[in-house]
Amino acid sequence: MFAQVSKVFAAIPGANGGGLGVIPEGVCAGTVVTTLGAAGLAVPPESDRGNRWCAATAAGAADGDEKRRETPNVGTSYYAVGVSEMAGTFIAFEGPDAAGKSTQVRLLAERLRASGVDVVATFEPGDTRIGPDVRRLVLDIASDGLDARAEALLYAADRAEHVAAVIRPALARGAVVITDRYVDSSITYQGEGRELGRAEVAALSEFATRGLVPDLTVVLDVPANVRVARKGDDVDRLEREADQFHQRVRDTYLELAAAEPERYLVVDGTRSPDELAEVIAEAVEKVMVG
Ligand code: TYD
Repeated sequence: MFAQVSKVFAAIPGANGGGLGVIPEGVCAGTVVTTLGAAGLAVPPESDRGNRWCAATAAGAADGDEKRRETPNVGTSYYAVGVSEMAGTFIAFEGPDAAGKSTQVRLLAERLRASGVDVVATFEPGDTRIGPDVRRLVLDIASDGLDARAEALLYAADRAEHVAAVIRPALARGAVVITDRYVDSSITYQGEGRELGRAEVAALSEFATRGLVPDLTVVLDVPANVRVARKGDDVDRLEREADQFHQRVRDTYLELAAAEPERYLVVDGTRSPDELAEVIAEAVEKVMVG
Protein backbone atom coordinates (compact mmCIF):
# COMPACT_ATOMS: atom_id res chain seq x y z
CA MET A 1 0.00 0.00 0.00
CA PHE A 2 1.42 3.32 -0.99
CA ALA A 3 0.20 6.62 0.38
CA GLN A 4 1.02 10.15 -0.62
CA VAL A 5 1.99 12.55 2.12
CA SER A 6 2.74 16.24 2.29
CA LYS A 7 6.34 17.05 2.82
CA VAL A 8 8.96 19.70 2.70
CA PHE A 9 10.54 19.24 -0.69
CA ALA A 10 12.85 22.12 -1.29
CA ALA A 11 14.71 24.77 0.60
CA ILE A 12 15.60 27.92 -1.25
CA PRO A 13 18.24 30.18 0.21
CA GLY A 14 16.99 33.69 0.97
CA ALA A 15 18.72 36.59 -0.67
CA ASN A 16 20.21 37.67 2.65
CA GLY A 17 22.17 34.50 3.17
CA GLY A 18 19.62 32.18 4.71
CA GLY A 19 19.21 28.55 3.85
CA LEU A 20 20.80 27.06 6.90
CA GLY A 21 20.57 23.40 6.16
CA VAL A 22 17.70 20.99 6.29
CA ILE A 23 14.41 22.30 7.58
CA PRO A 24 12.66 19.85 9.85
CA GLU A 25 9.54 18.37 8.35
CA GLY A 26 6.39 20.09 9.56
CA VAL A 27 8.10 23.32 10.58
CA CYS A 28 5.98 25.34 8.25
CA ALA A 29 2.84 23.24 8.34
CA GLY A 30 -0.21 25.41 8.75
CA THR A 31 1.38 28.56 7.39
CA VAL A 32 0.04 29.45 4.03
CA VAL A 33 1.56 32.23 2.03
CA THR A 34 0.05 32.72 -1.34
CA THR A 35 1.96 35.79 -2.39
CA LEU A 36 5.68 35.83 -2.06
CA GLY A 37 8.15 38.39 -3.19
CA ALA A 38 8.57 40.41 0.00
CA ALA A 39 11.95 42.11 0.09
CA GLY A 40 14.72 39.63 -0.49
CA LEU A 41 12.61 36.51 -0.41
CA ALA A 42 13.25 33.86 -3.00
CA VAL A 43 10.13 33.59 -5.14
CA PRO A 44 8.96 30.07 -5.87
CA PRO A 45 9.24 28.98 -9.47
CA GLU A 46 6.12 29.24 -11.59
CA SER A 47 5.70 25.47 -11.60
CA ASP A 48 5.37 25.46 -7.79
CA ARG A 49 2.50 27.93 -7.67
CA GLY A 50 -0.55 26.28 -6.23
CA ASN A 51 1.52 24.52 -3.61
CA ARG A 52 1.55 25.79 -0.09
CA TRP A 53 4.45 28.02 0.74
CA CYS A 54 5.62 29.47 3.96
CA ALA A 55 8.45 31.75 4.90
CA ALA A 56 10.42 31.48 8.10
CA THR A 57 13.23 33.41 9.66
CA ALA A 58 16.37 31.34 9.96
CA ALA A 59 16.17 31.49 13.74
CA GLY A 60 12.48 30.71 13.68
CA ALA A 61 12.87 27.66 11.52
CA ALA A 62 15.70 26.33 13.62
CA ASP A 63 13.66 26.80 16.78
CA GLY A 64 10.52 25.29 15.39
CA ASP A 65 7.06 26.68 15.16
CA GLU A 66 7.02 29.47 17.70
CA LYS A 67 9.10 32.00 15.90
CA ARG A 68 7.72 31.11 12.53
CA ARG A 69 6.66 34.13 10.55
CA GLU A 70 4.50 34.43 7.53
CA THR A 71 6.30 37.56 6.52
CA PRO A 72 10.03 37.61 6.88
CA ASN A 73 11.78 40.42 8.69
CA VAL A 74 13.47 42.64 6.23
CA GLY A 75 17.20 42.43 6.78
CA THR A 76 17.08 39.09 8.57
CA SER A 77 18.50 35.93 7.11
CA TYR A 78 15.69 33.64 6.17
CA TYR A 79 14.70 31.06 3.71
CA ALA A 80 11.56 30.01 2.02
CA VAL A 81 10.43 26.45 2.10
CA GLY A 82 7.82 24.82 -0.04
CA VAL A 83 5.33 22.56 1.61
CA SER A 84 3.25 20.99 -1.04
CA GLU A 85 -0.25 19.88 -0.15
CA MET A 86 -0.06 17.27 -2.85
CA ALA A 87 3.66 16.88 -3.25
CA GLY A 88 4.74 13.75 -5.01
CA THR A 89 7.76 11.65 -4.26
CA PHE A 90 11.04 11.97 -6.05
CA ILE A 91 13.23 8.88 -6.47
CA ALA A 92 16.57 8.84 -8.30
CA PHE A 93 18.48 5.79 -9.48
CA GLU A 94 22.22 6.13 -9.72
CA GLY A 95 25.24 3.96 -10.28
CA PRO A 96 27.99 3.10 -12.72
CA ASP A 97 27.19 2.21 -16.32
CA ALA A 98 25.52 -1.17 -16.80
CA ALA A 99 24.52 -1.41 -13.13
CA GLY A 100 20.95 -2.35 -14.06
CA LYS A 101 19.29 0.99 -13.32
CA SER A 102 16.89 1.04 -16.22
CA THR A 103 15.57 -2.44 -15.34
CA GLN A 104 14.95 -1.35 -11.75
CA VAL A 105 13.29 1.90 -12.83
CA ARG A 106 10.94 -0.15 -14.99
CA LEU A 107 10.17 -2.72 -12.28
CA LEU A 108 9.49 -0.03 -9.67
CA ALA A 109 7.28 1.94 -12.06
CA GLU A 110 5.29 -1.19 -12.92
CA ARG A 111 4.84 -2.10 -9.28
CA LEU A 112 3.67 1.38 -8.27
CA ARG A 113 1.33 1.69 -11.23
CA ALA A 114 -0.22 -1.65 -10.30
CA SER A 115 -1.07 -0.06 -6.92
CA GLY A 116 -2.76 2.82 -8.72
CA VAL A 117 0.02 5.34 -8.20
CA ASP A 118 0.61 8.09 -10.78
CA VAL A 119 4.20 7.42 -11.92
CA VAL A 120 6.49 9.36 -14.22
CA ALA A 121 9.54 7.32 -15.20
CA THR A 122 12.20 9.43 -16.80
CA PHE A 123 15.96 9.66 -17.38
CA GLU A 124 18.98 11.88 -17.92
CA PRO A 125 20.42 12.88 -20.21
CA GLY A 126 17.77 13.34 -22.85
CA ASP A 127 14.18 13.03 -21.70
CA THR A 128 12.97 16.50 -22.67
CA ARG A 129 12.11 18.29 -25.89
CA ILE A 130 15.70 19.46 -26.35
CA GLY A 131 17.13 16.40 -24.58
CA PRO A 132 17.87 14.13 -27.54
CA ASP A 133 20.09 16.81 -29.05
CA VAL A 134 21.98 17.34 -25.79
CA ARG A 135 22.31 13.58 -25.31
CA ARG A 136 23.78 13.19 -28.77
CA LEU A 137 26.22 16.05 -28.16
CA VAL A 138 27.59 14.61 -24.91
CA LEU A 139 27.56 10.90 -25.69
CA ASP A 140 28.46 10.69 -29.37
CA ILE A 141 32.06 9.64 -29.86
CA ALA A 142 32.18 12.35 -32.52
CA SER A 143 32.39 14.76 -29.55
CA ASP A 144 35.71 13.24 -28.45
CA GLY A 145 37.92 15.87 -26.89
CA LEU A 146 34.97 17.96 -25.69
CA ASP A 147 36.12 20.24 -22.89
CA ALA A 148 35.20 18.80 -19.48
CA ARG A 149 33.52 22.04 -18.38
CA ALA A 150 31.50 22.17 -21.58
CA GLU A 151 30.45 18.58 -20.88
CA ALA A 152 29.42 19.48 -17.32
CA LEU A 153 27.42 22.46 -18.57
CA LEU A 154 25.62 20.37 -21.18
CA TYR A 155 24.53 17.85 -18.53
CA ALA A 156 23.47 20.74 -16.30
CA ALA A 157 21.48 22.37 -19.12
CA ASP A 158 19.71 19.09 -19.81
CA ARG A 159 18.96 18.76 -16.09
CA ALA A 160 17.58 22.29 -15.79
CA GLU A 161 15.09 21.66 -18.58
CA HIS A 162 14.29 18.21 -17.18
CA VAL A 163 13.47 19.60 -13.73
CA ALA A 164 11.50 22.58 -15.03
CA ALA A 165 9.52 20.83 -17.75
CA VAL A 166 9.13 17.24 -16.51
CA ILE A 167 10.00 16.65 -12.85
CA ARG A 168 8.55 19.65 -11.00
CA PRO A 169 5.20 19.68 -12.82
CA ALA A 170 4.80 15.95 -12.09
CA LEU A 171 5.69 16.37 -8.42
CA ALA A 172 3.32 19.30 -8.12
CA ARG A 173 0.41 17.15 -9.24
CA GLY A 174 1.40 14.46 -6.75
CA ALA A 175 3.10 11.91 -8.97
CA VAL A 176 5.96 9.66 -8.04
CA VAL A 177 8.85 10.66 -10.27
CA ILE A 178 11.51 8.04 -10.88
CA THR A 179 14.57 9.25 -12.71
CA ASP A 180 17.36 7.12 -14.14
CA ARG A 181 20.32 9.41 -13.19
CA TYR A 182 20.25 12.90 -11.67
CA VAL A 183 22.63 15.29 -9.86
CA ASP A 184 24.88 12.57 -8.43
CA SER A 185 25.79 11.43 -11.94
CA SER A 186 27.34 14.83 -12.55
CA ILE A 187 29.10 14.86 -9.17
CA THR A 188 30.59 11.42 -9.77
CA TYR A 189 31.35 11.55 -13.52
CA GLN A 190 32.23 15.23 -14.01
CA GLY A 191 33.20 16.17 -10.44
CA GLU A 192 35.43 13.18 -9.71
CA GLY A 193 35.72 11.26 -13.00
CA ARG A 194 36.75 14.40 -14.90
CA GLU A 195 38.22 15.90 -11.73
CA LEU A 196 36.33 19.19 -12.00
CA GLY A 197 35.64 19.15 -8.27
CA ARG A 198 32.67 17.85 -6.35
CA ALA A 199 31.66 21.17 -4.84
CA GLU A 200 31.85 23.05 -8.14
CA VAL A 201 29.75 20.52 -9.99
CA ALA A 202 27.28 20.26 -7.11
CA ALA A 203 26.85 24.05 -7.20
CA LEU A 204 26.21 23.93 -10.93
CA SER A 205 23.52 21.31 -10.47
CA GLU A 206 21.97 23.23 -7.60
CA PHE A 207 21.61 26.19 -9.91
CA ALA A 208 20.13 23.97 -12.62
CA THR A 209 17.60 22.28 -10.32
CA ARG A 210 16.86 25.23 -8.00
CA GLY A 211 17.87 22.93 -5.20
CA LEU A 212 15.49 20.05 -5.90
CA VAL A 213 16.82 17.01 -4.04
CA PRO A 214 15.41 13.46 -4.35
CA ASP A 215 13.52 12.01 -1.39
CA LEU A 216 15.47 8.82 -1.97
CA THR A 217 18.46 7.97 -4.13
CA VAL A 218 19.00 4.29 -4.91
CA VAL A 219 22.61 3.49 -5.79
CA LEU A 220 23.09 0.25 -7.70
CA ASP A 221 26.65 -0.73 -6.95
CA VAL A 222 28.59 -3.06 -9.24
CA PRO A 223 32.29 -3.92 -9.23
CA ALA A 224 34.43 -3.01 -12.24
CA ASN A 225 34.62 -6.52 -13.69
CA VAL A 226 30.83 -6.81 -13.77
CA ARG A 227 30.47 -3.40 -15.41
CA VAL A 228 32.99 -4.31 -18.11
CA ALA A 229 31.43 -7.73 -18.74
CA ARG A 230 27.91 -6.30 -19.00
CA LYS A 231 28.51 -3.30 -21.18
CA GLY A 232 29.43 -5.18 -24.39
CA ASP A 233 30.78 -3.48 -27.52
CA ASP A 234 28.31 -0.66 -28.04
CA VAL A 235 29.92 1.88 -25.72
CA ASP A 236 29.34 5.65 -25.65
CA ARG A 237 31.92 8.40 -25.08
CA LEU A 238 31.75 8.22 -21.28
CA GLU A 239 31.79 4.44 -21.16
CA ARG A 240 35.05 4.44 -23.14
CA GLU A 241 36.84 6.19 -20.28
CA ALA A 242 39.70 4.46 -18.43
CA ASP A 243 39.14 2.07 -15.54
CA GLN A 244 40.46 4.61 -13.01
CA PHE A 245 37.77 7.06 -14.16
CA HIS A 246 35.07 4.48 -13.47
CA GLN A 247 36.67 3.51 -10.16
CA ARG A 248 36.46 7.15 -9.03
CA VAL A 249 32.82 7.23 -10.13
CA ARG A 250 31.99 4.12 -8.11
CA ASP A 251 33.91 5.26 -5.01
CA THR A 252 32.22 8.66 -5.10
CA TYR A 253 28.75 7.14 -5.24
CA LEU A 254 29.53 5.12 -2.15
CA GLU A 255 30.92 8.16 -0.35
CA LEU A 256 27.90 10.31 -1.18
CA ALA A 257 25.62 7.58 0.11
CA ALA A 258 27.64 7.06 3.29
CA ALA A 259 27.45 10.78 4.06
CA GLU A 260 23.63 10.82 4.00
CA PRO A 261 22.44 7.31 4.85
CA GLU A 262 18.87 8.48 5.54
CA ARG A 263 18.48 9.66 1.94
CA TYR A 264 20.29 6.83 0.17
CA LEU A 265 19.82 3.14 -0.36
CA VAL A 266 22.88 1.28 -1.66
CA VAL A 267 22.15 -2.12 -3.15
CA ASP A 268 24.37 -4.79 -4.62
CA GLY A 269 23.70 -4.63 -8.36
CA THR A 270 24.90 -8.20 -8.86
CA ARG A 271 21.83 -9.58 -7.07
CA SER A 272 18.94 -10.82 -9.19
CA PRO A 273 16.66 -8.10 -10.59
CA ASP A 274 13.64 -9.51 -8.73
CA GLU A 275 15.41 -9.58 -5.38
CA LEU A 276 16.60 -6.04 -5.90
CA ALA A 277 13.13 -4.88 -6.87
CA GLU A 278 11.78 -6.15 -3.52
CA VAL A 279 14.40 -4.35 -1.44
CA ILE A 280 13.96 -1.14 -3.42
CA ALA A 281 10.15 -1.22 -3.22
CA GLU A 282 10.34 -1.57 0.55
CA ALA A 283 12.56 1.51 0.85
CA VAL A 284 10.37 3.51 -1.54
CA GLU A 285 7.25 2.61 0.40
CA LYS A 286 8.84 3.92 3.60
CA VAL A 287 9.63 7.22 1.90
CA MET A 288 6.10 7.52 0.51
CA VAL A 289 4.39 7.02 3.84
CA GLY A 290 6.76 9.52 5.42
P1 TYD B 1 22.98 6.39 -19.45
O1 TYD B 1 22.22 6.50 -20.69
O2 TYD B 1 22.23 6.32 -18.17
O3 TYD B 1 23.99 5.20 -19.59
P2 TYD B 1 23.98 3.82 -18.84
O4 TYD B 1 22.70 3.15 -19.20
O5 TYD B 1 25.19 3.16 -19.39
O6 TYD B 1 24.08 4.13 -17.39
O7 TYD B 1 23.96 7.63 -19.26
C1 TYD B 1 24.75 8.01 -20.28
C2 TYD B 1 26.12 8.37 -19.79
O8 TYD B 1 26.14 9.74 -19.34
C3 TYD B 1 26.67 7.51 -18.67
O9 TYD B 1 27.94 7.06 -19.05
C4 TYD B 1 26.83 8.49 -17.52
C5 TYD B 1 26.92 9.82 -18.18
N1 TYD B 1 26.46 10.97 -17.38
C6 TYD B 1 27.39 11.88 -16.90
O10 TYD B 1 28.59 11.74 -17.12
N2 TYD B 1 26.94 12.97 -16.18
C7 TYD B 1 25.63 13.17 -15.93
O11 TYD B 1 25.26 14.17 -15.27
C8 TYD B 1 24.67 12.21 -16.44
C9 TYD B 1 23.20 12.41 -16.20
C10 TYD B 1 25.13 11.12 -17.15
